[in-house]
Amino acid sequence: MSQALLPIKIRRMQSQDLESIMAIEPAAFGSHHWSLQSFENELNNDSGCYFSATAPDSTSLLGYSGFWLIGEEAHITTLAVHPDYQGQYIGERLLINDILEAKKAGARWLTLEVRVSNEKAQNLYFKYGFKSISVRKSYYQDNDEDALVLWTENIETSRFNRLLEKRIEVMEPQFEAHPQWLQLKTSK
Ligand SMILES: CC(C)(COP(=O)(O)OP(=O)(O)OC[C@H]1O[C@@H](n2cnc3c(N)ncnc32)[C@H](O)[C@@H]1OP(=O)(O)O)[C@@H](O)C(=O)NCCC(=O)NCCS
Repeated sequence: MSQALLPIKIRRMQSQDLESIMAIEPAAFGSHHWSLQSFENELNNDSGCYFSATAPDSTSLLGYSGFWLIGEEAHITTLAVHPDYQGQYIGERLLINDILEAKKAGARWLTLEVRVSNEKAQNLYFKYGFKSISVRKSYYQDNDEDALVLWTENIETSRFNRLLEKRIEVMEPQFEAHPQWLQLKTSK
C-alpha cells in the first residue's frame, strides 16, 4: 500500500443509512441482494451487529458490514463497498471492525459463506486466515452457485492477534477515528 488511505468513519448502522445501502446493494451484489425489509429486520435483530463506513463528515455512505452473534461464533452476514470506492481498503477496514466488535462481544470464531466465484472477497478473507471447511451446494438460488463455508481460527490466539495487529498497523491513520483499534495495539 503506497498511497495514503482514504479517511473513513465506521459506526453502528442506523435506519437513516438504509436508503443509501439500498442504492449500493444491487451495484455490489447484482440482482440477488437483500431487500429493505431484510435490513430493517436485521436492525431489530438482537443478535445482529451492523456497521456503516462513511466519509469522516458522515456525508456519504461508502460501505457496510455486519454479523450475527451466535454463542461464540460471529457469522458475517454481509460486507459490501460502493463500487466507486472499492480497492481502497474500505472492505478490509470493515472486516477489521467486525473482528474487533466480535472479540468485544465474546466471539471466538468468525464464519461466513462466500460464492465460489467471488475471488475478490475470498482473497480478503484468506488474508485474515479464514479457511474453507465445507461447501454448501447450490446455496445461491439465483444461479445455483455453491458457497464456500469459511471459518477463522480462534480469534483469541496470540497468532491471530499478531496477524490482526500487523494489518491494523498498516491502517495506522485510522486509529484516531476508531479508538478500539488503538486499544488492541496498546493492550499488548
Ligand atoms: C469484496 C469487497 C467487500 C472488498 O472490499 P474492497 O474495499 O474493494 O477491498 P479492499 O480494498 O479492502 O481489499 C482488501 C483485500 O481484498 C482482496 N481484493 C480486493 N480487491 C481485489 C481484486 N480486484 N482482486 C483480487 N483481490 C482483491 C485483496 O486481498 C485485498 O488486499 P491486497 O490489495 O493487499 O491484496 C468489495 O469488493 C465488494 O463490496 N464486493 C461486492 C460485494 C461482495 O462480494 N461482498 C462479499 C460477500 S461474501
